[in-house]
Amino acid sequence: MCGIVGILSEQPHSIRSNTLHMLKRLEYRGYDSVGVATLEGDIQKEAGQVDPFVATITDYETCGSIAHTRWATHGGVSRVNSHPHSDATGEFMIVHNGIIENADELQAMVPGCRPLSETDSEVIAAFFRHRVVEDGLSMEEAIQDFFRVTEGTYAVLLMRKGDERMYALKHNSPLALARVGGLAGGAFVLASDISAFSDETGEAYFFDDMTYAIVAPDAFEVFGADGAAHAMVPHSFEWSSEEATLEEHPHFMIKEILEQPQTALRLLESFRTIQSEPLTAFAAHMKRARRIVFLSCGTSYHASLIGAFMLNQLNYEAHTVIASEFENFILVDASTFVIAISQSGETMDVILPLKQIIDDCAGLGAIVNVPHSTIQRLSTVSLDLLAGQEICVASTKAFTNQVIALMGLAERLGFDIDLSVIPGKISQTLEDIDPICKHLADELSDRNEIYVLGRGAAYPMAREIALKFKEIDYIHAEGMMAGELKHGTLALIEDGTPVICLIPGSDRSMLSSQREVEARGARTIVVSNTGEGEVNVPPSGNAEFAIYACLFGHLLSYYIGVARDLPIDKPRNLAKSVTVG
Ligand code: M6R
Repeated sequence: MCGIVGILSEQPHSIRSNTLHMLKRLEYRGYDSVGVATLEGDIQKEAGQVDPFVATITDYETCGSIAHTRWATHGGVSRVNSHPHSDATGEFMIVHNGIIENADELQAMVPGCRPLSETDSEVIAAFFRHRVVEDGLSMEEAIQDFFRVTEGTYAVLLMRKGDERMYALKHNSPLALARVGGLAGGAFVLASDISAFSDETGEAYFFDDMTYAIVAPDAFEVFGADGAAHAMVPHSFEWSSEEATLEEHPHFMIKEILEQPQTALRLLESFRTIQSEPLTAFAAHMKRARRIVFLSCGTSYHASLIGAFMLNQLNYEAHTVIASEFENFILVDASTFVIAISQSGETMDVILPLKQIIDDCAGLGAIVNVPHSTIQRLSTVSLDLLAGQEICVASTKAFTNQVIALMGLAERLGFDIDLSVIPGKISQTLEDIDPICKHLADELSDRNEIYVLGRGAAYPMAREIALKFKEIDYIHAEGMMAGELKHGTLALIEDGTPVICLIPGSDRSMLSSQREVEARGARTIVVSNTGEGEVNVPPSGNAEFAIYACLFGHLLSYYIGVARDLPIDKPRNLAKSVTVG
C-alpha cells in the first residue's frame, strides 16, 4: 500500500533515471497516483501510473529527492491527493505510507492550517513547518514531538528546502535503507522495501518501530523516538532483479505461473540444504505446542487451510483464522504456537494481531516470501518461500510455495507425501492443461458468475480459484464447501451456470454435489486426478491434488483476464502489499 523512495546522493542524480526508476520497482504496492519532489522544492505529481508520468515530467538533477506511488485510502484518486505534499510555503516536503489516524488532531495543533487535499498525510508537512519555523524547535525535537502526538502507522520521508539532509520516521509501516555505491558518487536510498534497490545492492538496514534517521549524503544516524541513539545492523538478502522484468511474457502473472516448476524446486532443495535446520526447528515448535493457530489473509489464508487440513490428519489441533478477524474468532494462550503466512511479510491485518499476542503465545513461526520483512523479524522461527519477487498483484508462485512449505513441515511431523515429485508434476500439469484453459476461457469470458466446489484439501482451492476470478477477471465467483451447497447456494444454480467441481479420486460426496448442480442445469467442469474429468491433472494424493487443481484456476483466470482485456497485473482498486489495517 503505497511505495516511498528517497535518495540522498553525494553528486546529483536524475529524478527520472534514478528516483522514478526505483519507484517503478515499488509500483506493485499501489498505482493510483505518482509524484516526486527535489530538495530544491520542485514537486511534480499526477494521478495514474509511473510510466506515463515519467514520459511527461521535467527531469531534474538533484542531490535529494523523494517519490511516492499511491494506493488511495483517505481521499480519491486525484492530482491534489497525490504525494509528495508540502506545507503552504513549499518549504517542508513529505511522502508518507500508512494512515495518520489522528490527522484532525494534528491539524488542530497547526493554527491556520488549511490542507488542499483530502489526505491524512498533508498535515505532516504543515506540522513540521509549524513546530520548526513558528515554535522554534530543531528538526530533531520536532520529530520527537511528532512521535509523541501522532497515532497510526507511518513511514515518512521528509525534506526541507535548504537542508541537505533527509529525515526518515517509521512506526508500523515498513522502511529500509541501503547504501548504493554506484549511484551519483555514492548515495543512501530509503524505500518501503528492498525491491526498490535490489538491482543495486544485496544489503540493507531495516528500521524498527518508533525510530527515525537523519541521513546525510555520506552518513546516517538512527535514534529512538526519545532521541537516544539506536543501533541498526545491515542484513544481506538475495532478491533477484531479473524477476522484475517481463522477458518474453506479456504479463507478470503468466511469467510467474510458468516459473513454478523452478521456484518449487528451489524451495524443496533448500529443505535439504540452507533451510534444513529452520525446517526442523519450526516443526519442533509445532510438535511441542498444544494447539496451532494459523494467521493470514487472502490467498495466504487459503494456504493456511491446507496446512490445517494436513495437521488435523496427523491429529494436531490446528485452527485457521482470517487475520483481520483474529480477536473476534480465536483464543491464543501460552500453549498455542502461531503460524503467520504472508507473501509480503508486511500485511498490516496480520502484523497488528501478532504484536498483540506475541508475548502470550508459545512462539511465532513465519512463512514469508520477502526476506527481512516485518513478520519475519517478529518471528521466533521462520521459513523463506524462495519464490523470488512476485510482481503481479495476484499471488501464484508464492502461494504454491506456501503450500509446499506447509507440506515440508507436515512431512517432518509424519505426513505421508513424496515432495520430490511436485516440481515435475507442476511442469506436466501446466503443459497438459494449457489448451483446455484457453478453450474454457473463450467459453467463460462473458459470464458474470462462476461457482467452484471442493471438499477437504480441495475446499481451500475452491476459495482460491474463486478469488482469482474476482481479482483478475472481475467475475463474481464463489468458492465453497460442496456440502454447503444444498443449504442455500443451490438456489442460485440455473440453466448454464458454470460450476467447477474439484474431484480428487472418486470422492463420492463431491460426485453427489456435481449431480445435484447438473440436475439444476449447471454447466459443470470437473477437475480430476483420475483421468475422468474435463480437466485432468496428474495422479496424486488429496493434499497434492490441491496444488495441481489450483494451477488450473490460476491459468484459467489468467486467460479469461486476457480475453476480457483487463489490466491483469494491476487489477483495479488493489495493491500487492496491504500495509494498512
Ligand atoms: O502478502 P500477503 O500474502 O500477506 O497478502 C495477503 C493478501 O493480500 C493476498 O494474498 C491477496 O489476497 C492476493 N492479492 C491474492 O492473489
